[in-house]
Amino acid sequence: MVDSVFRTRSLGVAAEGLPDQYADGRAARVWQLYIGDTRSRTDEYKTWLVALLRQHRCRSVLDVACGTGVDSIMLLEEGFSVTSVDASDKMLKYALKERWERRKEEPFDKWVIEEANWLTLERDVKKPGDGFDAVICLGNSFAHLPDFKGDQSDHKMALRNIASMVRPGGVVVIDHRNYDHILATGCAPPGKNIYYKSDLTKDITTSVLFVNNKAHMVTLDYTVQVPAQEMEGGPELSKFRLSYYPHCLEAFSELLKNAFQGRCQHSILGDFKPYTPGQEYIPCYFIHVVKKTG
Ligand SMILES: C[S@@+](CC[C@H](N)C(=O)[O-])C[C@H]1O[C@@H](n2cnc3c(N)ncnc32)[C@H](O)[C@@H]1O
Repeated sequence: MVDSVFRTRSLGVAAEGLPDQYADGRAARVWQLYIGDTRSRTDEYKTWLVALLRQHRCRSVLDVACGTGVDSIMLLEEGFSVTSVDASDKMLKYALKERWERRKEEPFDKWVIEEANWLTLERDVKKPGDGFDAVICLGNSFAHLPDFKGDQSDHKMALRNIASMVRPGGVVVIDHRNYDHILATGCAPPGKNIYYKSDLTKDITTSVLFVNNKAHMVTLDYTVQVPAQEMEGGPELSKFRLSYYPHCLEAFSELLKNAFQGRCQHSILGDFKPYTPGQEYIPCYFIHVVKKTG
């Protein structure tokens, strides 16, 4: 069942045999235009992330899902030292292009960009000393990792690898959409997207795949209005599909704490504000901030 979802589309294969959902260069191109460009980010997001990293005295940041480089570029411009990795060469292409074009600016000249997979992160990324001051995995990226084995062992391994990259005292910042709400109602919460200014999205159709009565995969079909000149004469309406594992808040919090073997302080934000279960406002995204204590 799960296989057939992936077989219907032409997908390349990233490291470890995982499908690279951006292998069709079109999804990467649309992502770059619509989301993965620093101008598309909200000021609220930028202010929050920069303040959080400064509050934790972070200087070196590893962006483990850099995609087109959008968050990394934002942090380089704010004076952080950034290492950016991603499993998709189609996405990395845009980050590499930006580094080349801005190579005369010192932070960009020193910007490290590598292809890496969370499942092999320790092998793929050179860790400085005890680790980076901060590791970020944002934009609902972690949910891209499927659970083909059905026991979440890949999720556990990837989170352990991500946790291993941060130094004691440093922080991991990782997010996911509010899948609790998506599974309960069949659609995303109504609030505006906290990350993107863009109002180019015309429609997002949500499908949920159940395996043995358990929600196994959420598929979002995006219809995006892209200005024709941006698409080099292509159609104005662009469609692409991305699939996600629906991480629920409580279960994901447990996975995270286990990845740190309990040696961490964990806090949860809903759309960048402290989150209290049962609160009236329904966040679109949950953001976990985990400080390594040992
Ligand atoms: C939703 S995009 C977000 C990119 C960027 N953070 C942003 O917000 O625009 C998710 C990214 O995660 C990457 N990714 C998915 N699975 C991965 C894996 N196993 N290892 C490394 N990167 C992965 C994808 O290639 C993609 O670029």
